[in-house]
Amino acid sequence: MESQKSPPTSQFVIAPSILSADFACLGKEVQDVLSAGADWIHFDVMDNHYVPNLTIGPLVCEAIRPYAVKNGKPAVIDVHLMIEPVDRIVPDFAKAGANLISFHPEASPHVNRTLNLIRDQGCQAGLVLNPATPLDHLDHTLELLDLVLLMSVNPGFGGQSFIPSTLNKITQVRARLDRYQAETGRHIRLEVDGGIKTDNIAEIAKAGADTFVAGSAIFDKDNYAQVIASMHSELGKSGKS
Ligand code: DX5
Ligand code: ZN
Repeated sequence: MESQKSPPTSQFVIAPSILSADFACLGKEVQDVLSAGADWIHFDVMDNHYVPNLTIGPLVCEAIRPYAVKNGKPAVIDVHLMIEPVDRIVPDFAKAGANLISFHPEASPHVNRTLNLIRDQGCQAGLVLNPATPLDHLDHTLELLDLVLLMSVNPGFGGQSFIPSTLNKITQVRARLDRYQAETGRHIRLEVDGGIKTDNIAEIAKAGADTFVAGSAIFDKDNYAQVIASMHSELGKSGKS
């Protein structure tokens, strides 16, 4: 299913996590980072239950929606739910203008039902695997997925260090998604989240990721355009573009 809210199909996507943005002027931060060359807006939702931190919800998603525009078109708002339970809030995010909604399988008793719920709401669906979550969760879900999100830190906070064993996991998921695409013709994005910087993004791309979440690496710098340009230049060197 290609929903009308499909993300762009370009090879590499940089999705800044607004968790590290200035919350006192979020609309401007979203505008600035998109005009600085970012592709998507990564929206981290934490509930102080599934993860030990509390962030933003559908009201904030709705508030930033008008600012998430790139080249005159709505930019993808990529909602990463770190909450339990999941289902009650999914329609609220769809109404608030989310394009893609991902959740952790540990947080939903009926993963298949939640994936269908997201798609029925007109959004694309993603499954998020923590560093210690096995890949078995992909066994019966691929046909309902638009994106697999591999955590390269334990979820809950920005500014943590990339866990190196994620590289091996990326390679395994890439092989699996490539096989799936060869069999079905359907492309599923492989996003990586946590500790991505200019100096490791090429290696992460080389392992097989095509979508990169970066929070502190971008928002902790004054010149967003410069960081994003350096990331693209590193991606160009990865030999994968
Ligand atoms: C962690 C969040 C990430 C985080 C990324 O739970 O899902 O999106 O904000 O931040 P950095 O890039 O600083 O690791
Ligand atoms: Zn995230």
